Amino acid sequence: MLAGCVGGTTSLSPTPSEAQAGQVTFPLGTATPSEVCGRCHAAVYAEVAFGTGADLKWKPIIYKSLTDPLLAIPGPFFDTATGHHLAGVDPWPLRARDVENNGASCNTCHYPEAFELPDLERDQVIHEPTPRTRVEEVVGVTCASCHLTPDGRIRGRYDPRELLAPHESVRDPNFGTSVTCAFCHSKGPRVVGKQTQTFYEWRDDYFNAGLGPEQCQDCHMPPVVRPLAEDQGTAPRAIGQHLWPGSHAASLIRQALTLSIRQVHGYGRTAGTPLEIHIKNVGAGHSVPSGSNRRGIWLTADVIDGGGTTIVHNEWLFAPWYASRPDDRAFLQADENLPDAVAALQADAQGPHETPVRAGEERVLTWTPQLPAGTFTVRVTLLYDLNRYNDRSFTPDQTELARSSISIQIP
Ligand code: HEC
Ligand code: HEC
Ligand code: HEC
Ligand code: HEC
Ligand code: HEC
Repeated sequence: MLAGCVGGTTSLSPTPSEAQAGQVTFPLGTATPSEVCGRCHAAVYAEVAFGTGADLKWKPIIYKSLTDPLLAIPGPFFDTATGHHLAGVDPWPLRARDVENNGASCNTCHYPEAFELPDLERDQVIHEPTPRTRVEEVVGVTCASCHLTPDGRIRGRYDPRELLAPHESVRDPNFGTSVTCAFCHSKGPRVVGKQTQTFYEWRDDYFNAGLGPEQCQDCHMPPVVRPLAEDQGTAPRAIGQHLWPGSHAASLIRQALTLSIRQVHGYGRTAGTPLEIHIKNVGAGHSVPSGSNRRGIWLTADVIDGGGTTIVHNEWLFAPWYASRPDDRAFLQADENLPDAVAALQADAQGPHETPVRAGEERVLTWTPQLPAGTFTVRVTLLYDLNRYNDRSFTPDQTELARSSISIQIP
């Protein structure tokens, strides 16, 4: 049986190719399992449920300490599936809401009801979507989550009069644009540096700032040409791939940032050896890392002597804040009284850190290690960490993004 398949609830025409629009309906709304659509849209389903054609990987993760249980994607789901398909069974958010939220369903964006798309100009603040009831959560973000309108029609970019669809379809000119993703990838109002700001970061820092015209789909759903549905006798058309590579795809996270280091000649005014580390966001249409406050990118710098020994080490963390102000240990006592105390304490206990690198931004960090005379190698690396709160020695959730080094001479 296919993952999450429940039969008998949706009426399917026996010969869909001859079907009239309206013969296939979806009474379960956004809780309609994607398998129902996958019966006709097989190639799209293979991308969504198996990750066919991408390097997606959801390795087991630990919540905090090395003695915590490994949280792995449960069968019959594949750990190479898309994040959307796994959203209902991904054990990490489920564990997080038990620990941080007393088990209450906070993950409204992980399982919402059907919604109208917001307007790019009018809706400056995006409000959380309405969640489904708890018993309807397990199917996660389904095909219907994005495609079903509140009045039960399937939205897409094509004019239904050009299609042979057995369901009621409607052309939405905004469907190919970033507003399709806004509801679940932002939580208003905009706060620079905070978590869950991806759509705003795209809108304000990238699109409206004139950095480029690309929508979320251009980078996360690049198109191919093939029939929209199989075995229905329909002609091939352009369709965006349904793979959504993100922080679980090494090939994508490696495109986001460039890393370089240079020695600054201080004209004898500064004690020590000034170095500049440049981190530039060249590939993402939003901040990096983006989204959940759990994401982090570690920058490490090592000065290595002629014998290969590291004699000085330094480290920075780039991550979204949990709340609307910088994470800081100074708030630990005040956090104790918050309803979300566990999550707030977790972020503040890690202390202050660099904010994410915004779209188009070049972040320059200066560092002045105290070194004796000699020749040294300075090596910098960037490491993506899916869960910045768990034990640093747990490496399966980490991916090296970039590495750079220079040789310096201290007279
Ligand atoms: C019985 C077969 C069948 C089922 C079940 C089915 N579809 Fe379709 N769908 C089609 C066919 C056929 C087309 C038209 C393809 C064409 O003419 O190129 C289509 C068209 C579409 C389009 C394009 C609409 C547009 O205006 O751009 C979308 C999007 C879509 N389907 C999504 C879904 C989703 C989501 C589900 C499940 C909730 C689903 N379909 C279930 C057969 C099906
Ligand atoms: C996260 C939101 C999302 C989910 C989940 C999703 N789609 Fe789509 N789908 C889109 C977007 C956005 C496009 C338009 C792509 C583009 O702009 O290139 C699209 C395009 C399509 C099309 C082509 C019609 C068109 O408008 O381009 C079909 C058919 C389709 N999806 C079917 C499905 C099926 C079947 C599933 C589940 C197996 C599914 N989709 C899941 C967002 C989604
Ligand atoms: C109905 C809510 C919803 C909509 C609409 C939606 N997403 Fe998502 N998306 C999610 C959730 C929830 C997750 C994470 C699931 C998890 O990790 O358990 C996710 C994950 C992702 C990821 C993977 C992130 C990672 O860390 O690997 C990408 C990329 C992504 N979405 C892009 C998009 C794009 C592009 C669109 C619009 C075409 C879109 N999403 C629309 C809810 C949504
Ligand atoms: C110009 C290309 C581009 C555009 C436009 C773009 N992205 Fe991304 N996105 C990337 C790259 C590259 C990454 C990997 C770096 C990272 O993790 O931030 C990424 C990562 C992500 C992630 C994973 C973030 C994390 O760190 O966990 C999500 C979710 C996501 N994008 C959603 C979106 C949404 C939603 C939009 C539109 C509002 C969008 N993206 C627009 C290129 C793009
Ligand atoms: C505004 C919509 C939204 C709300 C509300 C939300 N989430 Fe999420 N969550 C997302 C999206 C989108 C992602 C995908 C990754 C990203 O953007 O970094 C995600 C990712 C996650 C992840 C990482 C999953 C992985 O496997 O990498 C965890 C854990 C998580 N959410 C837990 C929660 C908990 C617990 C709550 C309630 C306190 C919650 N979320 C509320 C949208 C939301």
